[in-house]
Amino acid sequence: MAEFDIAALGPGEPYRILSSLVVPRPIAWVVTRDVETGTVNVAPFSFFNLVGSDPMTVVLGVSPAKRSGEPKDTGRNLSQIGAGFVVHLVDEAHADAMNRTASELPAHESEAHAADLALAETIKVSPVPRIASAPAALECRVAEIARVGNNRIVLGEVVYVHLRDELWDAEKKHVRTEDAHLIGRLHGSLYVRTSDRFALDRPR
Ligand SMILES: Cc1cc2nc3c(=O)[nH]c(=O)nc-3n(C[C@H](O)[C@H](O)[C@H](O)COP(=O)(O)O)c2cc1C
Repeated sequence: MAEFDIAALGPGEPYRILSSLVVPRPIAWVVTRDVETGTVNVAPFSFFNLVGSDPMTVVLGVSPAKRSGEPKDTGRNLSQIGAGFVVHLVDEAHADAMNRTASELPAHESEAHAADLALAETIKVSPVPRIASAPAALECRVAEIARVGNNRIVLGEVVYVHLRDELWDAEKKHVRTEDAHLIGRLHGSLYVRTSDRFALDRPR
């Protein structure tokens, strides 16, 4: 077995090894808003998951910006408990736009304009907007912020969900996940589709 003592690895190596192993990761396409300037910020995060159901809770892992070492705009905009933000799920049709919003623009420039994204109003976290065309948008409020070394870990409570009409089967009351064509992240610039599925019956 290849073995790695994390403490003995060089800079960047733990990230390269572990982000290639813990895959695929879902992608949170996150909209936040700078309360002072009103600038709308959009960025993808694959250190993301749904981590609790009562209440529905998501987690985001925000690292410092590579170039400056300063907190990323998303981290800064989510530094207060109660701050509103919106997590969008990413489908194949939005992969390119999502990728474009990963550029580290100066704080006063909005990735929403840069990626030509139309915004829509939210219900519970206004004036933070949502991306109008995304298949699903989860309105969230910051519930807890933990700092582990340089990582800022944001826990958010989901307070409102927008789902494209055709993805909701109102009769059966279920999400048509198979029609959403969501993508996940492997490592680096590699992604996966969610179209290759199989079922397993749970043991009793
Ligand atoms: C698919 C994808 C996933 C990413 N996941 C993360 C992540 O989990 N944590 C992080 O700090 N940066 C992540 N990044 C990089 C950020 O999106 C990037 O640094 C972005 O510019 C941050 O924007 P902001 O400064 O406007 O918040 C990811 C980039 C891509 C393309």
